[in-house]
Amino acid sequence: MSKAIVRNTIFESVICLSVILVYCTILQGQTKQKSFLTYDTKAKEILEKMTLEEKIGQMVQPDYASMRDKNDIQKYFVGSVLMGGGSDPRAGNSLEAWTDLYDNAQRLAMGTRLGIPLIFGIDAVHGHSNIEGAVIFPHNIGLGCTGDSDLVEEIGKITAYEMKATGIQWTFAPCVTVVRDERWGRTYEGFSEEPKISSLLGAASVRGLQGDNLSNPLSVAACAKHYIADGGTTAVERQGRGGGMPAFNFGGEGLTNTRGVRVSLNAGNCEFDEATLRAIHLPPYKDAVDAGVATIMPSYSSWNGVKCSASKFLLTDLLKDELGFEGFLISDYSAIDQINRNFKEGIATSINAGMDMAMEPSRYAEFCTLLKELVDEGTVPMSRIDDAVTRILRVKIAMGLFDENRSQLADRNLHDKFGCDEHRQVARKAVRESLVLLQNNNKVLPIAKNAKRIHVAGVNGDNIGNQCGGWTVQWQGASGNVTTGGTTILQAIKNSVSSETQVTYSSDGSDVEGADVAIVFIGEERPYAEGSGDTGDLSLNAQQVEMVSKIKNSGVPVVAVIISGRPMIIGDILEKADAIVAAWYPGTEGQGVADVLLGDYKPTGKLSFTWPKSMDQLPINVGDADYEPLYKYGFGLSY
Ligand code: GLC
Repeated sequence: MSKAIVRNTIFESVICLSVILVYCTILQGQTKQKSFLTYDTKAKEILEKMTLEEKIGQMVQPDYASMRDKNDIQKYFVGSVLMGGGSDPRAGNSLEAWTDLYDNAQRLAMGTRLGIPLIFGIDAVHGHSNIEGAVIFPHNIGLGCTGDSDLVEEIGKITAYEMKATGIQWTFAPCVTVVRDERWGRTYEGFSEEPKISSLLGAASVRGLQGDNLSNPLSVAACAKHYIADGGTTAVERQGRGGGMPAFNFGGEGLTNTRGVRVSLNAGNCEFDEATLRAIHLPPYKDAVDAGVATIMPSYSSWNGVKCSASKFLLTDLLKDELGFEGFLISDYSAIDQINRNFKEGIATSINAGMDMAMEPSRYAEFCTLLKELVDEGTVPMSRIDDAVTRILRVKIAMGLFDENRSQLADRNLHDKFGCDEHRQVARKAVRESLVLLQNNNKVLPIAKNAKRIHVAGVNGDNIGNQCGGWTVQWQGASGNVTTGGTTILQAIKNSVSSETQVTYSSDGSDVEGADVAIVFIGEERPYAEGSGDTGDLSLNAQQVEMVSKIKNSGVPVVAVIISGRPMIIGDILEKADAIVAAWYPGTEGQGVADVLLGDYKPTGKLSFTWPKSMDQLPINVGDADYEPLYKYGFGLSY
């Protein structure tokens, strides 16, 4: 072959390779947002103009509803506010009221000397769940059973849309906890008991919320939480009320249950080695960082006696240096207050450990004063302040908060699609995919849509608040038909059956005689959040067991549907219920449950948590040596 031909062949190959390389770079650019370091030049320019007080103001996050004087946003140059689980606008929870509240807070922040816009945080953990009329998706435990990362990404995208309709640009989600003990009140906030699903779906949620460009008007900043091993704490038996845990750490108030057995897990202590920490609890954070998560929230809990929020190894060495996290750390709600009875010492410890922003709902003024003292006296170096503020500014710049040609107030054109049917159909699909069929004797499921009479029983069958669970409109959620709209499962069944089918209902199972089939709702009948959900007893209560027995004894086939934030102890009904379905907390779109019970869709959910036979098996997780649960991790039947 002549030299000329060889030269041309090589030249053409180089061209082809270059084109491929450029194409991959473009693709890479499209599928993942830019590194936050891209924004450092701009961040440094802003930083150089800032006084120490203005820098410290960026590092504090009051609860807007708790601020006695909203003008403190200007007085302390506040860079962020939150509205915590129990904080609501005085004007109520309507879309308008929330949007006005966001705009008012933002106007105050932009009225400061440098006009640095606020980043406004909220717990939009299963949809924009504080706001009336928002679409409420299944809690993460249900999404974990779908195993569907595309669906979870789409849920993140819709949640971001409904958040931006109010202007709010930052959610304290996804919770990527790896839940190792289902007695924990936050079990339902986790996708799974093992790291793979938590990693897969946590990263998908980050991508959905943040999109591939944080400056997109429909993107929001995500927050992976609670770093680290919040779901790995050791259960502490509780005697009576209040014993054993400091009041303010939301630990172990415990569900009041018939047997009164209590344990504390929330905000507790993890007792295992670094190898276990890295194998079980770190992977979801690595994947969230790789997905470009903008913020991470350290946990209230401790690892081998050291508070996560006070650990330089965890916050700086492991997360920032080793995993390369480029965003910023936001403390949990008053978590710094729990480090040391001396608030000033706690602040010094946490900020020097690597905390960047302090969620101080009401002690924000004190925080600013004390941190300034700490810097003036050299306890907290200015370099640490500058690093924290640079991280915060990077994220704000990436979010477009400094784009001159763009308003930072809410875009009220987005109100048109807030809570729209298109969004609800995605939630309905998520409900369908989250259901796990545990038993189906005599193929009692699916139920014929033209059955003569279907009897629905149990409070959870006609109760939006119970089907949504905690973190819905209120911090602890609220039983009953909370003002967030939606479709109860009873209504959904009525919507689906044929015109000649009679659907009857009783909360206690009475009047069931003569029905073709009874759909009996059992499970947890009081929404809860955090420590108030810690419990030592996950048994069905006596009334529910009695209801199932009575209906079965009347000769009517029983389909038991469990509405709960976690697996429950159901041995008492195994022989009595013909079919058993785990529905978790489906959220506002109860129609998704009817879709599966009435056969429009087959159940596809697979357990992302091990289902124990009895309380004395807990904690029990896939991979354990003597692993004999009632239903194994990954179990799920279909039609
Ligand atoms: C809570 C929770 C955390 C939440 C924060 C703000 O105590 O631990 O998940 O994001 O406070 O409401």
